[in-house]
Amino acid sequence: MSELLDKLELASKEAPIHIAAASDLEQLEALRLQFLGRKGIITQVLHGLGQVSQENRPLIGKRANEVKRLVNECLEVRRSELESVRLTQELFKQKLDVTLPGFKPWSGSIHPLTQTLDRMNEIFFSMGFTLAEGPEIEDDFHNFDALNTPPHHPARNEQDTFYLENGLLLRAHTSPVQVRHMQAHQPPVRIVAPGRVFRRDTPDASHSPVFHQIEGLYVDQHVCFGDLKYTLEQFACQFFGPETKLRFRPSFFPFTEPSAEVDCSCAFCKGAGCNVCKGSGWMELLGCGMVHPGVFEAVGYDPERWTGFAFGMGIDRFCMRLYGINDIRLFLESDVAFLSQF
Ligand code: DAH
Repeated sequence: MSELLDKLELASKEAPIHIAAASDLEQLEALRLQFLGRKGIITQVLHGLGQVSQENRPLIGKRANEVKRLVNECLEVRRSELESVRLTQELFKQKLDVTLPGFKPWSGSIHPLTQTLDRMNEIFFSMGFTLAEGPEIEDDFHNFDALNTPPHHPARNEQDTFYLENGLLLRAHTSPVQVRHMQAHQPPVRIVAPGRVFRRDTPDASHSPVFHQIEGLYVDQHVCFGDLKYTLEQFACQFFGPETKLRFRPSFFPFTEPSAEVDCSCAFCKGAGCNVCKGSGWMELLGCGMVHPGVFEAVGYDPERWTGFAFGMGIDRFCMRLYGINDIRLFLESDVAFLSQF
């Protein structure tokens, strides 16, 4: 009997010391087996109880359980210590510097044409113009006839049009939106109509079969050429800066009379001459004029009562000059390297 008790006492003294000295979880497990495993000291004592006399058995059993509890407690304390050491070591190994700059998430940007158009729209909206839209697939009436351009008219050949098989066509300019808007609304009318237009051009750095225009139309009583000049000057000064000058050159469009082409002083050299304006000091801006009475008749407006002006501006070449883009095809290529610059 005293032999078993001696074993237990020895274990109760040694176990706490050895366990506290265990240097890692593997050593700790070996100690657990040494004391509590199937062949461990305490297990052996409990198995040996069969040979112990009836009267001593409870005493040794009780002591064995106490020592077992003690060993378990020591194991638990040391295990949590060693686990926290291991965690600290792991974290140290995978050191993460949270002060380093992160990776910027990829984000899209607004297409340079859209940016240009947005700025133009904003200026016209501030002058009371509203937005109008029309279809890209048009018919002869809206694209030509109603714009005072009958079948034999030379302008029909000039504007090399994409005809579709069903007799419809891809609009060659945004001017048909004027017609559609006037058919649907009575004067006064004050709209801008931006959009895609299509012409049979061989693509190169300065030509694209798809490009963009913004159309303007103002119809009321007593609208005169001075209103047109004032509106365009206001636009140019807001877009390019207050010093901007405009130059009106007489021109011809079937749907306006009189008609003009307008240049503005170069936005880069302010008229002194630079390589953007090819030394001339001027940049071509748009075509415009007073709405032809034939157009009013085609949409059912009384040309004796109403007058108006219209203008049409290409956006792509304009945008190219502003941003220093040297190839119009870049606008349609969806090249992220190009687009992400804007
Ligand atoms: N539609 C013309 C073109 O594509 C541009 C234009 C000129 C539009 C004069 C107009 C205008 O409204 O009055 O070349």
